[in-house]
Amino acid sequence: NWTTANVVDEQIEAIRAQVGTKRAICGLSGGVDSAVAAALVQKAIGSQLTCVYVDHGLMRKGETEQVEKDFVAATGVQLKVVDAQERFLTALAGVSDPEQKRKIIGREFIRVFEQAQAEIVAEAGAEGEDVAFLVQGTLYPDVVESGGGTGTANIKSHHNVGGLPEDIEFELVEPLRKLFKDEVRAVGRQLGLPDEIVERQPFPGPGLGIRIVGEVTRERLDLLREADAIAREELTAAGLDRDIWQCPVVLLADVRSVGVQGDGRTYGHPIVLRPVSSEDAMTADWTRMPYEVLAKISTRITNEVAEVNRVVLDVTSKPPGTIEWE
Ligand code: XMP
Repeated sequence: NWTTANVVDEQIEAIRAQVGTKRAICGLSGGVDSAVAAALVQKAIGSQLTCVYVDHGLMRKGETEQVEKDFVAATGVQLKVVDAQERFLTALAGVSDPEQKRKIIGREFIRVFEQAQAEIVAEAGAEGEDVAFLVQGTLYPDVVESGGGTGTANIKSHHNVGGLPEDIEFELVEPLRKLFKDEVRAVGRQLGLPDEIVERQPFPGPGLGIRIVGEVTRERLDLLREADAIAREELTAAGLDRDIWQCPVVLLADVRSVGVQGDGRTYGHPIVLRPVSSEDAMTADWTRMPYEVLAKISTRITNEVAEVNRVVLDVTSKPPGTIEWE
C-alpha cells in the first residue's frame, strides 16, 4: 500500500543495497526533484554522498545563492560548487536547435560530474573505486516523455534521461523514477525539507538554455534573467505562486519587432509569458490569470529590460504545446 513513509523506507533500503559502502554524487539544480532525491540518498548513505552544484550560467537570478544557503541549511549535506559558465557557453556557441542544445547541456553536465567525482575520490584518498554513482531526480513523467517508459513517443530529451551521453561512466541512482511531482513533494515533506524547497515551481535542468529561442549567448541570458526575475517577483507579489504550476519566461531571440518608445523607433525582441496550470506536467492548460498582473509584468519588462519592446502571452494548452518552448 502506498504511503509516503513506505516509499521512503523502501527507497532507503534500495539505495543502500545499490551503493553499498561506495561514494555517490548528486547534481543539485535548485529544483524540487534533485533536492528530494539528494535528501533521500543522504538519509540512506550519509556522508558517502556529496552534492554537486554546477553553475552553468543558465540559472535564474538568485538560484545559486539559494542552493548554497537553503538546501545546505536544511540538510547539512556536503556541497561542491563548480563554476562551469565558460565551458557551457563555449559548448553552446552557434547552436540553435533545441534537441542539440539539450544533448550538449546533458553531455557537459556529465563531463563536469566526472571531474567532480574524480576530485572527491582523490580528496577522500579512495582511488581505485571502480563504480561511480550519480543520483538523478528523474520522475516518472520524464521517463515517459523521453521515450524510456512504456513505448510512448520521444517528445524531448529531458537532460536527466534522454539527454545523457552514451559513454557515461556513472551508474545512475534514481529513487524518484516511479513518482509524480505531488508524490515527490510529499516525500520531501516527510524528509523534513522546508516549504521554500518543497513548494518550488518546476524548473528544467537545462535552465534558461532552452528558454532562448535561438543561440544562447551571455548577453541574451542576462536579458532573459532580468525579465524572468520581474515576472517571478510580480507573480509572487500577486499571491499567484500556488495557483500557477510554473511560468516559463521565454526570449524570442531570433525574432524582432518594431516598437516605439519616447520619440524613437525601437527594433527589439519579444518576451513570451507561459503561465500554466497542471497536475503532473503531462498535460497542462494556460492559466487564466488576472489582467492587472499581466499588465504590470508587461509594463515593467518593457521599461526595465533593454532590447525588449513587446510582451506576449502564450494561450496554448499541452497538448498541443509543451510547457517549455524547446
Ligand atoms: P514539457 O516542456 O516537456 O515540460 O511539457 C514538462 C515539465 O518538465 C520540465 N522539463 C524538464 N525538467 N529536465 C528537467 O529536469 C529537462 O530537460 C526538462 N525539460 C522540461 C518542464 O519545465 C515542465 O515542468
